[in-house]
Amino acid sequence: LTLKDAYKNRFYIGTAMSRPQIENLKSEETSLIAKEFNSITAENIMKSMFLHPEEDVFSFETSDKYVDFGVKNNMFIHGHTLIWHSQLAPWFRAKKDSLEMSVAMENHIKTIVEHYDGKIDSWDVVNEALNEDGTLRKSVFLNTIGEDYLPMAFKWASETDPNVDLYYNDYNLTDTEKRKGAIRLIKQIQDKGVKIDGVGMQGHWHLNRPSLEVIEQSILDYAALGIKVAVTELDISVLPDPWGLQGAEISQRFENNDKMNPYPKALPDSIQTKLANRYKDIFKLFLKHQDKISRVTFWGISDKQTWLNDFPIKGRTNYPLLFDRELKPKKAFHTLVELTKEN
Ligand code: G3I
Repeated sequence: LTLKDAYKNRFYIGTAMSRPQIENLKSEETSLIAKEFNSITAENIMKSMFLHPEEDVFSFETSDKYVDFGVKNNMFIHGHTLIWHSQLAPWFRAKKDSLEMSVAMENHIKTIVEHYDGKIDSWDVVNEALNEDGTLRKSVFLNTIGEDYLPMAFKWASETDPNVDLYYNDYNLTDTEKRKGAIRLIKQIQDKGVKIDGVGMQGHWHLNRPSLEVIEQSILDYAALGIKVAVTELDISVLPDPWGLQGAEISQRFENNDKMNPYPKALPDSIQTKLANRYKDIFKLFLKHQDKISRVTFWGISDKQTWLNDFPIKGRTNYPLLFDRELKPKKAFHTLVELTKEN
Protein backbone atom coordinates (compact mmCIF):
# COMPACT_ATOMS: atom_id res chain seq x y z
CA LEU A 1 0.00 0.00 0.00
CA THR A 2 1.35 3.43 -0.86
CA LEU A 3 1.21 6.36 1.54
CA LYS A 4 -1.18 8.35 -0.65
CA ASP A 5 -3.54 5.40 -0.99
CA ALA A 6 -3.47 4.75 2.73
CA TYR A 7 -4.61 8.33 3.41
CA LYS A 8 -6.97 8.64 0.45
CA ASN A 9 -10.29 10.22 1.43
CA ARG A 10 -8.65 11.53 4.64
CA PHE A 11 -6.34 14.33 3.52
CA TYR A 12 -3.74 14.94 0.83
CA ILE A 13 -0.26 13.63 1.53
CA GLY A 14 2.35 15.97 0.10
CA THR A 15 6.06 16.46 -0.19
CA ALA A 16 8.35 19.34 -1.01
CA MET A 17 10.28 19.10 -4.27
CA SER A 18 13.81 20.45 -4.41
CA ARG A 19 15.26 22.25 -7.41
CA PRO A 20 17.39 19.24 -8.51
CA GLN A 21 14.33 17.01 -8.37
CA ILE A 22 12.35 19.42 -10.52
CA GLU A 23 15.21 19.81 -12.97
CA ASN A 24 15.52 16.06 -13.41
CA LEU A 25 12.05 14.60 -13.57
CA LYS A 26 13.31 11.19 -14.66
CA SER A 27 15.13 10.30 -11.45
CA GLU A 28 14.44 7.60 -8.89
CA GLU A 29 13.48 10.35 -6.45
CA THR A 30 10.77 11.80 -8.66
CA SER A 31 9.25 8.41 -9.40
CA LEU A 32 9.09 7.85 -5.65
CA ILE A 33 7.34 11.22 -5.28
CA ALA A 34 4.78 10.31 -7.94
CA LYS A 35 4.21 6.90 -6.39
CA GLU A 36 3.79 7.85 -2.73
CA PHE A 37 2.44 11.42 -2.68
CA ASN A 38 -0.58 13.16 -4.18
CA SER A 39 0.44 16.74 -3.46
CA ILE A 40 3.59 18.78 -4.03
CA THR A 41 5.11 22.04 -2.80
CA ALA A 42 8.17 23.66 -4.37
CA GLU A 43 10.82 23.84 -1.64
CA ASN A 44 12.58 26.89 -3.10
CA ILE A 45 11.96 27.69 -6.75
CA MET A 46 8.73 29.68 -6.40
CA LYS A 47 10.15 32.15 -3.91
CA SER A 48 10.32 35.69 -5.23
CA MET A 49 14.10 35.81 -5.75
CA PHE A 50 13.80 32.95 -8.24
CA LEU A 51 10.40 33.58 -9.82
CA HIS A 52 10.59 37.36 -10.07
CA PRO A 53 14.31 38.25 -10.00
CA GLU A 54 13.96 41.74 -11.54
CA GLU A 55 10.97 44.00 -11.31
CA ASP A 56 10.18 43.51 -15.00
CA VAL A 57 11.42 39.91 -15.30
CA PHE A 58 9.46 36.82 -14.33
CA SER A 59 11.24 33.52 -14.66
CA PHE A 60 8.65 30.77 -14.93
CA GLU A 61 10.66 28.06 -16.68
CA THR A 62 11.53 25.82 -13.73
CA SER A 63 8.27 26.36 -11.91
CA ASP A 64 6.34 25.52 -15.09
CA LYS A 65 8.12 22.16 -15.07
CA TYR A 66 7.13 21.67 -11.46
CA VAL A 67 3.49 22.50 -12.15
CA ASP A 68 3.39 20.30 -15.27
CA PHE A 69 4.73 17.40 -13.21
CA GLY A 70 1.91 17.87 -10.73
CA VAL A 71 -0.74 18.18 -13.43
CA LYS A 72 0.50 15.03 -15.21
CA ASN A 73 0.42 13.06 -11.99
CA ASN A 74 -2.97 14.38 -10.98
CA MET A 75 -1.64 16.03 -7.84
CA PHE A 76 -2.88 18.78 -5.59
CA ILE A 77 -0.36 21.50 -6.38
CA HIS A 78 0.61 24.05 -3.77
CA GLY A 79 2.38 27.37 -4.45
CA HIS A 80 5.05 28.49 -1.97
CA THR A 81 5.21 31.46 -1.55
CA LEU A 82 3.99 34.86 -2.80
CA ILE A 83 4.95 37.28 -0.02
CA TRP A 84 7.88 36.42 2.24
CA HIS A 85 10.60 38.60 3.74
CA SER A 86 13.21 35.89 3.18
CA GLN A 87 14.62 34.72 -0.16
CA LEU A 88 13.11 37.98 -1.30
CA ALA A 89 13.90 39.43 -4.71
CA PRO A 90 16.34 42.28 -3.97
CA TRP A 91 14.42 44.87 -6.00
CA PHE A 92 11.53 44.64 -3.50
CA ARG A 93 13.82 46.13 -0.86
CA ALA A 94 14.21 49.32 -2.84
CA LYS A 95 10.54 50.19 -2.41
CA LYS A 96 10.36 53.18 -0.14
CA ASP A 97 6.71 53.96 0.51
CA SER A 98 3.26 52.49 0.62
CA LEU A 99 2.32 53.40 -2.93
CA GLU A 100 5.49 52.01 -4.52
CA MET A 101 5.23 48.82 -2.50
CA SER A 102 1.51 48.35 -3.23
CA VAL A 103 2.11 48.63 -6.96
CA ALA A 104 4.97 46.15 -6.74
CA MET A 105 3.10 43.63 -4.60
CA GLU A 106 -0.05 43.80 -6.67
CA ASN A 107 1.86 43.20 -9.89
CA HIS A 108 3.88 40.39 -8.30
CA ILE A 109 0.86 38.57 -6.90
CA LYS A 110 -1.45 39.07 -9.86
CA THR A 111 1.07 38.08 -12.52
CA ILE A 112 2.05 34.87 -10.76
CA VAL A 113 -1.42 33.78 -9.67
CA GLU A 114 -2.74 34.54 -13.16
CA HIS A 115 0.05 32.53 -14.79
CA TYR A 116 -1.02 29.44 -12.81
CA ASP A 117 -4.76 30.10 -12.82
CA GLY A 118 -6.56 26.76 -12.90
CA LYS A 119 -3.39 24.74 -12.29
CA ILE A 120 -2.20 25.65 -8.82
CA ASP A 121 -4.71 24.55 -6.19
CA SER A 122 -3.56 26.57 -3.20
CA TRP A 123 -1.10 29.37 -2.39
CA ASP A 124 0.86 30.48 0.61
CA VAL A 125 -0.10 34.10 0.10
CA VAL A 126 1.93 35.35 3.04
CA ASN A 127 4.64 33.37 4.80
CA GLU A 128 6.09 33.92 8.28
CA ALA A 129 4.79 37.42 9.01
CA LEU A 130 4.77 36.92 12.79
CA ASN A 131 7.33 37.26 15.56
CA GLU A 132 7.43 34.67 18.32
CA ASP A 133 5.49 37.01 20.65
CA GLY A 134 2.65 37.26 18.15
CA THR A 135 3.40 40.78 16.92
CA LEU A 136 4.04 41.44 13.24
CA ARG A 137 7.59 40.92 12.08
CA LYS A 138 9.46 43.97 10.84
CA SER A 139 9.82 43.55 7.10
CA VAL A 140 9.97 45.77 4.06
CA PHE A 141 6.25 45.09 3.60
CA LEU A 142 5.30 46.15 7.12
CA ASN A 143 7.65 49.13 7.05
CA THR A 144 6.18 50.57 3.86
CA ILE A 145 2.49 49.62 3.91
CA GLY A 146 1.80 48.78 7.52
CA GLU A 147 -0.31 45.85 8.70
CA ASP A 148 -2.76 46.27 5.83
CA TYR A 149 -0.30 44.54 3.55
CA LEU A 150 -1.73 41.21 4.70
CA PRO A 151 -5.40 41.71 3.73
CA MET A 152 -4.24 43.49 0.58
CA ALA A 153 -2.16 40.50 -0.49
CA PHE A 154 -5.04 38.09 0.05
CA LYS A 155 -7.42 40.41 -1.79
CA TRP A 156 -5.18 40.65 -4.86
CA ALA A 157 -4.76 36.88 -4.94
CA SER A 158 -8.47 36.16 -4.64
CA GLU A 159 -9.40 38.74 -7.25
CA THR A 160 -7.05 37.06 -9.69
CA ASP A 161 -8.16 33.46 -9.12
CA PRO A 162 -11.31 33.18 -7.02
CA ASN A 163 -11.08 29.37 -7.03
CA VAL A 164 -7.62 28.92 -5.57
CA ASP A 165 -7.27 28.27 -1.83
CA LEU A 166 -5.40 31.03 -0.01
CA TYR A 167 -3.27 30.22 3.05
CA TYR A 168 -1.33 32.00 5.74
CA ASN A 169 1.75 29.83 6.53
CA ASP A 170 4.13 30.06 9.49
CA TYR A 171 6.24 28.07 11.98
CA ASN A 172 5.74 27.63 15.73
CA LEU A 173 2.03 28.29 15.25
CA THR A 174 1.36 25.90 18.12
CA ASP A 175 3.08 28.25 20.62
CA THR A 176 0.61 30.19 22.72
CA GLU A 177 1.60 33.76 21.93
CA LYS A 178 2.28 33.16 18.27
CA ARG A 179 -0.99 31.29 17.95
CA LYS A 180 -2.84 34.27 19.41
CA GLY A 181 -1.08 36.48 16.90
CA ALA A 182 -2.03 34.23 13.99
CA ILE A 183 -5.65 34.10 15.09
CA ARG A 184 -5.74 37.89 15.34
CA LEU A 185 -4.16 38.24 11.90
CA ILE A 186 -6.61 35.80 10.29
CA LYS A 187 -9.58 37.53 11.94
CA GLN A 188 -8.38 40.90 10.67
CA ILE A 189 -8.40 39.56 7.14
CA GLN A 190 -11.84 38.01 7.58
CA ASP A 191 -13.23 41.18 9.19
CA LYS A 192 -12.30 43.14 6.09
CA GLY A 193 -14.41 40.73 4.03
CA VAL A 194 -11.32 39.35 2.34
CA LYS A 195 -11.07 35.65 1.53
CA ILE A 196 -8.65 33.45 3.46
CA ASP A 197 -9.18 29.70 3.16
CA GLY A 198 -6.65 28.19 5.48
CA VAL A 199 -3.70 28.24 7.76
CA GLY A 200 -0.51 26.30 7.12
CA MET A 201 1.04 25.10 10.36
CA GLN A 202 4.65 24.37 9.51
CA GLY A 203 5.63 21.13 11.19
CA HIS A 204 9.34 21.62 11.82
CA TRP A 205 9.01 19.60 14.97
CA HIS A 206 11.10 17.53 17.37
CA LEU A 207 10.85 14.21 19.18
CA ASN A 208 9.72 15.96 22.37
CA ARG A 209 8.02 19.15 21.24
CA PRO A 210 5.52 20.51 20.57
CA SER A 211 3.32 18.36 22.76
CA LEU A 212 0.37 16.46 21.33
CA GLU A 213 -1.91 18.58 23.49
CA VAL A 214 -0.84 21.87 21.95
CA ILE A 215 -0.90 20.44 18.44
CA GLU A 216 -4.47 19.29 19.00
CA GLN A 217 -5.53 22.56 20.61
CA SER A 218 -4.01 24.48 17.71
CA ILE A 219 -5.91 22.44 15.12
CA LEU A 220 -9.12 23.12 17.03
CA ASP A 221 -8.41 26.84 17.49
CA TYR A 222 -7.66 27.47 13.82
CA ALA A 223 -10.55 25.33 12.59
CA ALA A 224 -12.85 27.35 14.86
CA LEU A 225 -12.14 30.34 12.61
CA GLY A 226 -13.93 28.49 9.81
CA ILE A 227 -10.78 27.82 7.81
CA LYS A 228 -8.91 24.72 6.70
CA VAL A 229 -5.83 23.55 8.54
CA ALA A 230 -2.89 22.25 6.52
CA VAL A 231 0.13 20.75 8.21
CA THR A 232 2.96 21.98 6.04
CA GLU A 233 6.73 21.49 5.98
CA LEU A 234 6.56 18.47 8.28
CA ASP A 235 9.84 16.98 9.46
CA ILE A 236 10.88 15.72 12.88
CA SER A 237 14.45 16.38 13.91
CA VAL A 238 16.04 13.62 16.00
CA LEU A 239 19.13 15.66 16.90
CA PRO A 240 19.84 17.84 19.95
CA ASP A 241 17.59 20.82 19.84
CA PRO A 242 19.06 24.32 20.22
CA TRP A 243 15.69 25.78 21.15
CA GLY A 244 15.99 29.10 22.90
CA LEU A 245 19.62 29.60 21.97
CA GLN A 246 20.52 32.34 19.56
CA GLY A 247 23.31 33.27 17.15
CA ALA A 248 26.66 33.05 18.94
CA GLU A 249 25.24 30.79 21.63
CA ILE A 250 24.33 28.21 19.03
CA SER A 251 27.77 28.21 17.47
CA GLN A 252 29.43 28.07 20.89
CA ARG A 253 27.42 25.08 21.90
CA PHE A 254 27.58 23.32 18.55
CA GLU A 255 31.04 23.94 17.26
CA ASN A 256 33.49 21.06 17.53
CA ASN A 257 30.98 19.23 19.61
CA ASP A 258 30.34 15.67 18.52
CA LYS A 259 27.41 15.56 20.88
CA MET A 260 25.55 17.77 18.48
CA ASN A 261 25.91 15.22 15.69
CA PRO A 262 25.52 11.99 17.62
CA TYR A 263 24.60 9.69 14.73
CA PRO A 264 27.02 10.45 11.88
CA LYS A 265 26.77 6.95 10.35
CA ALA A 266 23.36 5.50 11.12
CA LEU A 267 20.38 6.08 13.34
CA PRO A 268 20.28 3.56 16.23
CA ASP A 269 17.24 1.29 16.20
CA SER A 270 15.96 2.74 19.44
CA ILE A 271 15.76 6.25 17.96
CA GLN A 272 14.35 4.89 14.72
CA THR A 273 11.52 3.47 16.81
CA LYS A 274 11.10 6.72 18.75
CA LEU A 275 10.74 8.61 15.48
CA ALA A 276 8.20 6.11 14.16
CA ASN A 277 6.17 6.39 17.37
CA ARG A 278 6.30 10.17 17.33
CA TYR A 279 4.99 10.20 13.75
CA LYS A 280 2.34 7.68 14.74
CA ASP A 281 1.10 9.79 17.67
CA ILE A 282 0.95 12.90 15.53
CA PHE A 283 -0.87 11.19 12.67
CA LYS A 284 -3.36 9.65 15.09
CA LEU A 285 -4.30 13.22 15.95
CA PHE A 286 -4.51 14.18 12.30
CA LEU A 287 -6.79 11.22 11.61
CA LYS A 288 -8.94 12.11 14.59
CA HIS A 289 -9.40 15.61 13.13
CA GLN A 290 -9.40 14.63 9.48
CA ASP A 291 -12.53 16.70 8.84
CA LYS A 292 -10.48 19.81 9.67
CA ILE A 293 -7.24 18.91 7.92
CA SER A 294 -6.87 19.50 4.21
CA ARG A 295 -3.32 18.34 3.62
CA VAL A 296 -0.20 17.07 5.36
CA THR A 297 3.00 17.89 3.50
CA PHE A 298 6.45 16.56 4.40
CA TRP A 299 9.40 18.89 3.82
CA GLY A 300 11.13 16.49 1.46
CA ILE A 301 11.26 12.76 0.88
CA SER A 302 14.59 11.50 2.09
CA ASP A 303 17.09 12.15 4.88
CA LYS A 304 19.72 12.73 2.23
CA GLN A 305 18.28 16.01 0.98
CA THR A 306 16.64 17.50 4.06
CA TRP A 307 17.47 21.12 4.95
CA LEU A 308 17.88 19.87 8.56
CA ASN A 309 21.30 18.43 7.72
CA ASP A 310 22.40 22.07 7.59
CA PHE A 311 20.30 23.72 10.24
CA PRO A 312 21.08 25.33 12.62
CA ILE A 313 24.66 24.45 11.74
CA LYS A 314 25.99 22.88 8.58
CA GLY A 315 26.95 19.29 8.13
CA ARG A 316 24.87 17.41 10.66
CA THR A 317 23.43 13.99 9.86
CA ASN A 318 19.74 14.27 10.59
CA TYR A 319 16.99 11.70 10.03
CA PRO A 320 13.68 13.58 9.99
CA LEU A 321 11.84 12.10 7.00
CA LEU A 322 10.17 8.86 5.90
CA PHE A 323 12.82 7.55 3.49
CA ASP A 324 16.48 6.95 4.28
CA ARG A 325 19.55 8.08 2.37
CA GLU A 326 19.15 5.17 -0.06
CA LEU A 327 15.47 6.05 -0.56
CA LYS A 328 14.36 2.97 1.37
CA PRO A 329 11.23 3.40 3.48
CA LYS A 330 11.99 3.74 7.20
CA LYS A 331 10.10 2.27 10.10
CA ALA A 332 8.14 5.53 10.36
CA PHE A 333 6.83 5.04 6.82
CA HIS A 334 5.49 1.56 7.53
CA THR A 335 4.00 2.73 10.81
CA LEU A 336 2.05 5.52 9.10
CA VAL A 337 0.68 3.18 6.42
CA GLU A 338 -0.32 0.58 9.04
CA LEU A 339 -1.99 3.22 11.20
CA THR A 340 -4.77 3.81 8.66
CA LYS A 341 -5.84 0.16 8.93
CA GLU A 342 -6.96 0.67 12.53
CA ASN A 343 -8.06 4.31 12.42
O1 G3I B 1 21.32 26.51 -4.72
C1 G3I B 1 22.44 27.01 -3.96
C2 G3I B 1 23.70 26.32 -4.40
O2 G3I B 1 23.95 26.67 -5.73
C3 G3I B 1 24.83 26.77 -3.48
O3 G3I B 1 25.98 26.08 -3.79
C4 G3I B 1 24.50 26.52 -2.03
C5 G3I B 1 25.54 27.04 -1.07
O4 G3I B 1 25.04 27.23 0.23
O5 G3I B 1 23.29 27.16 -1.72
C6 G3I B 1 22.20 26.72 -2.49
O6 G3I B 1 21.07 27.44 -2.09
C7 G3I B 1 20.47 27.02 -0.88
C8 G3I B 1 19.03 26.65 -1.19
O7 G3I B 1 18.37 26.35 0.02
C9 G3I B 1 18.92 25.43 -2.09
O8 G3I B 1 19.42 24.31 -1.45
C10 G3I B 1 20.54 28.16 0.09
O9 G3I B 1 21.87 28.42 0.47
C11 G3I B 1 19.73 27.83 1.31
O10 G3I B 1 19.65 28.98 2.16
C12 G3I B 1 18.32 27.44 0.91
O11 G3I B 1 17.65 27.03 2.07
C13 G3I B 1 16.25 26.90 1.97
C14 G3I B 1 15.62 27.79 3.02
O12 G3I B 1 14.22 27.62 3.00
C15 G3I B 1 15.94 29.26 2.76
O13 G3I B 1 15.32 30.07 3.72
C16 G3I B 1 15.88 25.45 2.22
O14 G3I B 1 16.33 24.65 1.11
C17 G3I B 1 14.38 25.31 2.35
O15 G3I B 1 14.07 24.01 2.81
C18 G3I B 1 13.87 26.31 3.38
O16 G3I B 1 12.48 26.19 3.48
C19 G3I B 1 11.85 27.04 4.44
C20 G3I B 1 10.49 27.40 3.88
O17 G3I B 1 10.60 27.95 2.61
C21 G3I B 1 9.74 28.34 4.81
N1 G3I B 1 9.67 27.80 6.15
C22 G3I B 1 10.94 27.37 6.74
C23 G3I B 1 11.66 26.40 5.82
C24 G3I B 1 12.93 25.90 6.46
O18 G3I B 1 13.84 26.95 6.65
